Amino acid sequence: MLENLKEQAPDKIIELIGLYAADTRANKLDLGVGVYKDAKGNTPVMRAVKAAEAQLLAEQDTKKYVGLLGDLSYVDAIRDLILGDSVAAGRVCGAQEPGGTGAIRQLFELIKAADAGATVWISNPSWPNHEAILKYLGMNIGKYRYFDEASCGVDFAGMKADLEGAAEGDVLLLHGCCHNPTGANITSAEWAEVAEIALAQKLMPMIDIAYQGFGDGLEDDTAGVRIMAAKVPEMLVAASCSKNFGLYRDRVGAALIISKDEAATALSKANIAGLNRVNFSFPPDHGAKVVSIIMNDDALRADWASELEDMRLSMLDLRQGLADALRRETNSDRFDFIAEHRGMFSRLGLSPEQVMQLRSDHAIYMVGDSRVNIAGLPKAGLDSLAKAIASVI
Ligand code: LMR
Repeated sequence: MLENLKEQAPDKIIELIGLYAADTRANKLDLGVGVYKDAKGNTPVMRAVKAAEAQLLAEQDTKKYVGLLGDLSYVDAIRDLILGDSVAAGRVCGAQEPGGTGAIRQLFELIKAADAGATVWISNPSWPNHEAILKYLGMNIGKYRYFDEASCGVDFAGMKADLEGAAEGDVLLLHGCCHNPTGANITSAEWAEVAEIALAQKLMPMIDIAYQGFGDGLEDDTAGVRIMAAKVPEMLVAASCSKNFGLYRDRVGAALIISKDEAATALSKANIAGLNRVNFSFPPDHGAKVVSIIMNDDALRADWASELEDMRLSMLDLRQGLADALRRETNSDRFDFIAEHRGMFSRLGLSPEQVMQLRSDHAIYMVGDSRVNIAGLPKAGLDSLAKAIASVI
């Protein structure tokens, strides 16, 4: 039977991890998968996480099941962190999910259960797993223009024109902040315009927010989500704590569902609980409990926010450093956008051939669309990286 299985096309981001590991050159540089690295190239456990884990280890006295929706103190903390008071709490329900990907998958399934014919509109480009999961679920996919190759900014006019072609009941998937893979983001004023389009055309916004705190700050990074939440009757949010709590392998995510009234909220809640039950039953507890401990302890929360802010500032510093180095090496302002982009990634606008040449000639690994992980940039090696990039363009 198993010989009938189909070959699987590798995920481009995950494939890169293996290719990089197999490269024996001493000077190799990994700008691939989105993992934060400090100046020494390490991805340490955050201080508040270590402290909360110690507390959890000392105090936890049972491992019995928590509940299909996971730890509700965690879900409430994530709801407040992302939505603030933009929407009445009685219209929001949520579930703990295994990572941001788990949240996305569950919400796509929820959409499918509510309307199997709905088209989910994703940005062009988007995180590749959005399309992969939608395809796997056999759902309709639409793509709206997003990235302007010439300026490496957002093609907002193109985006709006494409969204105007979406039909009532379609889903509009947006990145809450720190767009992956491009690093180019819409402004608050543009979010307000998109909210008007969603409202007028009766689209269901779904917001993937995986990098809160990596862009303009913990609070500022929620501006778009909150503008949208305050406007529309229904909305979905897929949240991840992989990056901003550094809990990658512990799989800590959440699905938040805003429904039009309290009766609809009860129905949404029963459905997301049911989807958890049939897919994996109970979400993994450890990481979510750690987040809940941090968010409900003033000192731990302040320490977490301050370490996260340091990470954000170091990425901004690297952005500026790379933009400056490229300005010197190319004698042009072609790459100035790197300093304007926000979040963990920037798409550099190199061709696939140039990306391959950087890999073969310089042992520099970035995703094939020329997405680089800003946190992976070597502060001391920005000039040589810029030289290498200048040599292939
Ligand atoms: C990325 O885009 O590199 C991260 O979100 C990791 C992943 O799962 O792809």
